[in-house]
Amino acid sequence: MTARLQVRDLVVEYRTRDGVVRAVNGISFDLHRGEILALVGESGCGKSATALAMLRLIPDPPGRIVGGEVLFDGLDLLKADDAQIRAVRGNRIAMIFQEPMTSLNPVHTIGDQVGEPLRLHRRLTRPAAIARSIALLGTVNIPHAEARIGDYPHQFSGGMRQRAMMAMGMACVPDIIVADEPTTALDVTVQAQLLDLLKHQVDTHGTSILLITHNLGVVARYADRVNVIYAGRVVEAASADALYARPTHPYTIGLLRSVPRLDQPATETLAPIEGQPPDPLDLPAGCPFHPRCPLATAQCRREPPPLRAVGDAHHVACWVAAHG
Ligand SMILES: Nc1ncnc2c1ncn2[C@@H]1O[C@H](COP(=O)(O)OP(=O)(O)O)[C@@H](O)[C@H]1O
Ligand SMILES: [Mg+2]
Repeated sequence: MTARLQVRDLVVEYRTRDGVVRAVNGISFDLHRGEILALVGESGCGKSATALAMLRLIPDPPGRIVGGEVLFDGLDLLKADDAQIRAVRGNRIAMIFQEPMTSLNPVHTIGDQVGEPLRLHRRLTRPAAIARSIALLGTVNIPHAEARIGDYPHQFSGGMRQRAMMAMGMACVPDIIVADEPTTALDVTVQAQLLDLLKHQVDTHGTSILLITHNLGVVARYADRVNVIYAGRVVEAASADALYARPTHPYTIGLLRSVPRLDQPATETLAPIEGQPPDPLDLPAGCPFHPRCPLATAQCRREPPPLRAVGDAHHVACWVAAHG
């Protein structure tokens, strides 16, 4: 099956006062129809930079997409012209951002914003778009949507704003929804509702979801496949089942030990991974995880490990794991 979206060797840099940060350092993955692919990793590992680069939303300056390809529907989005990329964004590929307060415009009503993609991409009139917005807000469980359609973002709670973002993302029935930590600031019940809504898009429309999260509990419950990211690279890629049954990279094993699972009682004591994520301005030589790794060898300190197959569709970038 050919993938709906192929990301190849993506490299993103940010120029800072102190030097150049390579936020994404050669990430590749495929996203298939009707699957939920998770990108998981600690804060600062390059998840948002990957998502933003896919739709060419990296702020330049200070950011820059230095290399790679994002192949979608016969087009490399990194080379597409402005009209081509605008036709994709919010239409074929929608993004649901981390902080809806900053991505929803405070001076426009919720109804106008949720309906905006329909006016832009489907040429709906304003009244038709508003009518559709009411229906969409109902789908994401905003009570009394017809009465709230004229509200401004600050009149919505955080959970309602996040749901309004989701409604806007769903408006054109996109092929792909990129959800960047869509639930991080929300309580557990609202989180589950939102993720169930995303899952519902997959089941009813065959939507593909790129689900960005640092929460392995969310991954266990919702993702089909997982890419574990460390210091701008994929260090382990596997089906969610294989990742939980046979986590192989020492970082993945550490993450699994340190994160509570939604589907299991929180009885076990959590053991956080020792040490800090590396300074992106001063990455260690060799494997970027080696300073925190209990299994590091001389080779790990010297040579960066390539991503290699350790099982069926299971890849790991680790010298020790590769040697069994
Ligand atoms: N606007 C920015 N200016 C400078 N550096 C940035 C900026 N945004 C991100 N970075 C750098 O890129 C790295 C990856 O950031 P990001 O993709 O936002 O991480 P994540 O989403 O995984 O938490 C960070 O470690 C940070 O150093
Ligand atoms: Mg982020």
